[in-house]
Amino acid sequence: MNDLILNKLERRLGRLYAKQRLGIERDHEAQIFGQGINFFHIENWYSSHSLIRNALKLTGLYWRGRRNAARVQIKNNDIHFQTLPNAFNGFTLLHISDFHADMSEGAMRRLEEILPELRYDLCVLTGDYRGATFGPFDAALERMQPVLSRIKTPVYGVLGNHDTIRMVPELEAMGIRMLLNECVRISRQDESIYLAGIDDAHYFRVDNIEKVATNFPHGAFSILLSHTPEIYRQAAHAGFDLLLSGHTHGGQICLPGSIPITLDSVLPRKMGSGAWKYYEMFGYTSAGVGSSIVTVRLNCLPEITLHRLWRAPASAQ
Ligand SMILES: [Fe+2]
Repeated sequence: MNDLILNKLERRLGRLYAKQRLGIERDHEAQIFGQGINFFHIENWYSSHSLIRNALKLTGLYWRGRRNAARVQIKNNDIHFQTLPNAFNGFTLLHISDFHADMSEGAMRRLEEILPELRYDLCVLTGDYRGATFGPFDAALERMQPVLSRIKTPVYGVLGNHDTIRMVPELEAMGIRMLLNECVRISRQDESIYLAGIDDAHYFRVDNIEKVATNFPHGAFSILLSHTPEIYRQAAHAGFDLLLSGHTHGGQICLPGSIPITLDSVLPRKMGSGAWKYYEMFGYTSAGVGSSIVTVRLNCLPEITLHRLWRAPASAQ
């Protein structure tokens, strides 16, 4: 590996985490069976990709699916919290997930058109910047650059199961503050909320929710970014108020009625896309802006999301 990247990672993450994280990647990169939360990883089984593409071409669905993959929707999600500090009433987060930038050209172009019109206070990115799960990442980062230049700062991000830790120095050089089992405080007037992010929990299993949850005061309003929503139990019981995630692509190729064939996840189907709640924690699973495996979407359009946080009225408490 490039010594320059290694030095940057050691400075950024500390020698131990950098060494451990790179070692885990080296051991398991592109494994089809047996690593991660679920057993089978179709995204790593590369010969399946052309099979799916050819099957879609035979059934005549391929070109419609290709066009759908560029039809990025803007979703609005209003959430009411009893615990939100008053200064954050109306606070808006732009949430973008699953870029797969180097294989989602149509969606990236559409995103570039949409972004300048949007109003928000902060942007969060929930991982999967690269199309493939291993190999070069330069093309993905190169395609991310013009998209990022249209996003207003501050921008926070986490890594997905398609990403490598080696992408972090360049992602941060582009202006994304990556949260790798880390937490930051966001202040408004004299009040604060906490934004935490974990490293990939789905495939490399390098998440540490306990560590991030001890980095803010007990009972403080907190948001967790995780590429996968599969850690919903750990997040809710650690006391997070909101979990923002992606990974499932909402199924990406769905049956009529938006019924996913697979979510590539271990979680209840109702958490596979959109807003949900688990105990006191609100959650949102983005269907993602890009596409993976095959650049096709059926009965499941790509999205970006504006989450508006509201203080729940006293009567609702
Ligand atoms: Fe993804």
